[in-house]
Amino acid sequence: MTTQKQLERLLERQAQARLGGGRDKIDRRHGEGRLTARERIDLLLDPGSFEEFDMFKTHRCHDFGMERTVYPGDGVVTGHGTVDGRIVYVYAQDFTVLGGSLSETMAEKICKLLELAMKNGAPVIGLNDSGGARIQEGVESLAGFSDIFLRNVMASGVVPQISAILGPCAGGAVYSPALTDFIVMERKHSYMFLTGPKVVKSVCHEDVTTEDLGGADMHSSQSGVSDYAAESTVDAIRYIKRLLSFVPQNNLESTPAVACDDPADRPSEALNAIIPDNANAAYDMKRVILETVDGGDFFEIKEKFAPNIIVGFARYAGVAVGIVANQPAHLSGVLDIDSSIKGARFVRFCDCFNIPLVTFVDVPGFLPGTFQEYGGVIRNGAKMLYAYAEATVPKITVITRKAYGGAYCVMSSKHLRGDINYAWPSAEVAVMGSRGAVEVLYGRQARDAADPRAFLAEKEAQYQETVSNPYVAAERGYVDDIIVPASTRARIIRALALTQNKRDANPAKKHGNIPL
Ligand code: HXC
Repeated sequence: MTTQKQLERLLERQAQARLGGGRDKIDRRHGEGRLTARERIDLLLDPGSFEEFDMFKTHRCHDFGMERTVYPGDGVVTGHGTVDGRIVYVYAQDFTVLGGSLSETMAEKICKLLELAMKNGAPVIGLNDSGGARIQEGVESLAGFSDIFLRNVMASGVVPQISAILGPCAGGAVYSPALTDFIVMERKHSYMFLTGPKVVKSVCHEDVTTEDLGGADMHSSQSGVSDYAAESTVDAIRYIKRLLSFVPQNNLESTPAVACDDPADRPSEALNAIIPDNANAAYDMKRVILETVDGGDFFEIKEKFAPNIIVGFARYAGVAVGIVANQPAHLSGVLDIDSSIKGARFVRFCDCFNIPLVTFVDVPGFLPGTFQEYGGVIRNGAKMLYAYAEATVPKITVITRKAYGGAYCVMSSKHLRGDINYAWPSAEVAVMGSRGAVEVLYGRQARDAADPRAFLAEKEAQYQETVSNPYVAAERGYVDDIIVPASTRARIIRALALTQNKRDANPAKKHGNIPL
């Protein structure tokens, strides 16, 4: 029989472990407006669902007086619970214990979690807040990091991995989050960089603040390392929960479906009027997305990075999909290095996890210029081509206006195994815009014409009539149908139903060689 004394001892040991680095340090965190590791886990999980692993596990380091600095759990809280009733594995680094620094023991705890998540097929959420490798340990800590990296890579494409950065994340420690599928950073307290401002100053003679070097805003708008800059921990956790609602538990599950009360055949008359009369005028592609998806509910990823392409999740008739769309309201929706990287990574995530892709196309081509060429727009643009071509999930495409040049091929075209490709009557499928085309074809003749402008205008009208429209592509079967814009929602939902049991495969190989 379990004695009262044994029970009391258990409770005492648990209470001690829950205090992490001690009451003083917890109070200090609260004073700074930060939550503890356990409070963060409580925010994420359904009430009462958390079950902890390795609460009593401790480090084995005896150098630098570490035998006197032993904390149960060793600076990370690990376990599992549910979010909206679905199982997730979670770890939260505890900054009150030696700055959340990563020891051999902490690495073992995180690796155990990653292995369980892979074996049992559930997402992993890492709540990071750490001073990096535990300095007292040396190589054991570095080995621990490497062990985590390996498991992050093995888990990639098997279970979704999401990282929240809620405090420091520096040095090689950045690479575990970087290997996961999504990163959310908290604006006030977090940063990520390889080397801090002091080293940057001594090596590069540059003055830069921590914020500017590795803050949430910079990483969410410039580097693209982070998917979202959260206002607070609560906001970061809200983002993660919403993200989880769109993704399956693992690579063997289908995309999640929920009940939907938005009629599948709901027309959207506003779409019939959205394309401006002037072919070069901008309009907001987000309106097209919001008009067509269930309840106007769109969850955007990397909103502030490369806004010339929009990526995110939504639902059609309750079925979760990934949406990729050119944004004519930013840089005319052109494809460039950053937008190609953003789009390709998103397409590959959806393909890993059986999430169908819906693509809206209005793209004038790839961005020209030395900046793009020197930066490798060829290599980076190829990522997008590669990602769409290898994707075997259902791929539904709607060309709203421009689909010019190589960008036509890239954006989920029939030629890259697009399943159902629609075009609006306003679509222009051509090698380039009609103005540019007639200048190349008739520039010399125009100079000899009595009225060069009238001559070119006539040729342009001819080009639009014969080439730059959706009918030539439709005659070849490269678009399956030309649809009334107002019916786009209904047509996408039908196309998704049609392709729900799609079977497609790539040739057997070890792995492909995406241009990196
Ligand atoms: C051991 C650490 C630690 C670390 C912090 N602490 N970082 N202990 N190893 N890496 C301890 C501190 O000694 C302190 O202990 C407590 O955590 C809180 O730290 P403070 O400095 O008081 O906090 P703060 O002022 O908020 O500063 C946080 C910090 C700073 C910016 C993270 O602690 C710091 O610069 N730490 C070192 C960061 C670092 O260089 N890490 C190695 C990166 S290289 P007490 O007992 O006083 O509370 C790396 C390689 C990975 O990670 C390679 C992977 C391949």
